Amino acid sequence: MSTTFQAMIVTQTAPGQFQRAIVTRNLNDLPDGEVLIRVRYSSLNYKDALSASGNRGVTRRYPHTPGIDAAGEVQESSSPDFSPGDAVIVSCYDLGMNTSGGFAQYIRVPARWVMPLPAGLSLRESMIYGTAGFTAAQSVARLQRHPVLPEQGKILVTGATGGVGSMAVAMLALSGFSVAAATGKLEQAQFLRDLGAQEIVPRENSIDRSGRMLLKEKWAGVIDTVGGEMLATAIKSTRYGGAVTCCGNTASPDLPLNVYPFILRGVSLLGIDSAECPMAVRIPIWQKIATTWRLPNLEYLAMEISVKELDQHIERILQGKQKGRVILNLDA
Ligand SMILES: NC(=O)c1ccc[n+]([C@@H]2O[C@H](COP(=O)([O-])OP(=O)(O)OC[C@H]3O[C@@H](n4cnc5c(N)ncnc54)[C@H](OP(=O)(O)O)[C@@H]3O)[C@@H](O)[C@H]2O)c1
Repeated sequence: MSTTFQAMIVTQTAPGQFQRAIVTRNLNDLPDGEVLIRVRYSSLNYKDALSASGNRGVTRRYPHTPGIDAAGEVQESSSPDFSPGDAVIVSCYDLGMNTSGGFAQYIRVPARWVMPLPAGLSLRESMIYGTAGFTAAQSVARLQRHPVLPEQGKILVTGATGGVGSMAVAMLALSGFSVAAATGKLEQAQFLRDLGAQEIVPRENSIDRSGRMLLKEKWAGVIDTVGGEMLATAIKSTRYGGAVTCCGNTASPDLPLNVYPFILRGVSLLGIDSAECPMAVRIPIWQKIATTWRLPNLEYLAMEISVKELDQHIERILQGKQKGRVILNLDA
């Protein structure tokens, strides 16, 4: 088939320099795979911005099309599990990392990366959640399984206005938890309160540099999206027997900490990975997203853009300015 389509391409122009452009591509340019998908919506995640700016930890080879999320209809399938017209989601695995991603009207991927769109969600709604919403949902589920219970006290969410953070605030509030939102954007306090946060913690108050090994017990649980000193401070401030999830490194990949919160307070640190999360875990979490965690304020969290507007939003997310979720309409 010689169909052409629109895609963002990131190209290396000189050592350390990368250029983004919207170009016309041909289906023959796509990698091999069992399922060809006409993408209707994608979304912008922090990892996409890293891929779109030449980060070799995310994408080794350029030219490249980023986009770790895609939702659309199956166009062709050599797998018995999918038929033309099926509404599907592809989120994570290698999509958008070293496989041509969702910032394009078509993707071609292995069938094992594809899942049916959960009943009750539209393609557009699925991308408002996207990898960020899925990661927030995994984090809340891990706290609940620990278990951390609403009556045990407040849950701290760091990077609260970002994609994962804002989704986590809303899902925790919907699940009956009292939420404290740590943010560097105090002007977005009302946004966070509207999502269900009961307390706003300024970023500078969420970082302790006293050198103390343990801090006053404040949080029954924590959902951390930023890493570094803020994660270390949150762990030192978690109550006896509490749990802290760790999914991101927006501030830093380091964790300046000692073992005392773990051996004196029994605090648990729970790692969250969405990229390689197996379908056996992924599908039940998406079903919870479509039912229990179907947010009444979903649209309030979302901003829809076209491919032409992607560039400016990639810069915004790299600067830590993202608020809520940016979804990409591939037909706009
Ligand atoms: N493990 C996984 O599978 C997985 C999946 C998805 C995402 N992630 C990771 O999770 C993190 C968040 O992703 P995202 O898509 O939600 O990104 P995002 O939308 O950019 O949100 C990150 C938020 O962190 C805060 N922040 C930014 N720079 C900071 C700094 N220097 N110090 C402290 N806080 C800072 C900001 O919120 P405030 O202004 O409100 O503080 C920002 O909006 C990223 O590191 C991403 O790679 C991991």
